[in-house]
Amino acid sequence: MRLENQIAIITGGGQGIGQQIAFRLGQEGAVAVIADINEKGSWETAEMMASSGGKKARVIPTDITSEEQVVNLIQGTLEIDKRIDILVNNSGIMGPVKNIEDIPLEEWEATMAVNLRGMFLCVKHTVPTMKRQGKGSIVNIASITGKRPLIQRTPYAASKMGVIGLTRTLAAELGRWKIRVNAVCPGAVIGPRLDLVIEGIMKYSGKSRDQVVAERTEASALKSFVDAQYIAAVVAFLCSEDAVMMTGQDINVCAGTIMY
Ligand SMILES: NC(=O)c1ccc[n+]([C@@H]2O[C@H](COP(=O)([O-])OP(=O)(O)OC[C@H]3O[C@@H](n4cnc5c(N)ncnc54)[C@H](O)[C@@H]3O)[C@@H](O)[C@H]2O)c1
Repeated sequence: MRLENQIAIITGGGQGIGQQIAFRLGQEGAVAVIADINEKGSWETAEMMASSGGKKARVIPTDITSEEQVVNLIQGTLEIDKRIDILVNNSGIMGPVKNIEDIPLEEWEATMAVNLRGMFLCVKHTVPTMKRQGKGSIVNIASITGKRPLIQRTPYAASKMGVIGLTRTLAAELGRWKIRVNAVCPGAVIGPRLDLVIEGIMKYSGKSRDQVVAERTEASALKSFVDAQYIAAVVAFLCSEDAVMMTGQDINVCAGTIMY
């Protein structure tokens, strides 16, 4: 197994893409530490992993926007597992779907707090351990919206473009300690969150659900939305020795919606 006994913190592992990532890393032999505000979902992920014969997962409920809680996450992990091999920064919120002039400052700041400040805090407090180990892999979940504009999603797009900037800068800064930092950029992923996005677009564009769905899938080469398991597969690859010469990269998993 590629990740045998690796200790992997996964933020937002209580549902959606993060749940699939935790599951896949567990299947590959890693011990997953699930850090999410969604405690119930986190235990469901742990249960799902245990019942499928994967490694036992740990749950440390964490709001990543709080430095105190992130410090608690890192200390709690080190007390039991002694090391941190993998950090997957997956927690993120979609932010408002509104014209710029209608976005309250609080909604801008709330989006930045989860999507960027939380990632900064998790990296900041994990890196000293990885430096001591002389090894580590960090994977940041960005979005294809980190590479191109998405109207009426200003805070989200700005935050995901920031995630790619953070990834490249950290890769350059941390490479000498053999800490690799990469980003994965999903396209539209099947699930409740995509449903919310579609509803938002319908509201602002006046288009029907079928029109929005057809337009969104038409834009992809494979004419498809993305299943979260394929994002998890790429994350597992990036964490493994197979990707030991990859850092500072942003890999699209988007059914060919964008190609850069
Ligand atoms: N779903 C998509 O289509 C899509 C596309 C591109 C990128 N992404 C990105 O993938 C990541 C996961 O998305 P998802 O679709 O699984 O979303 P989701 O809403 O289903 O799950 C996000 C998880 O993050 C957690 N979270 C939210 N705020 C938190 C906080 N303050 N502290 C800790 N955890 C917090 C939530 O509780 C939840 O478990 C996000 O970064 C998202 O931006 C998703």
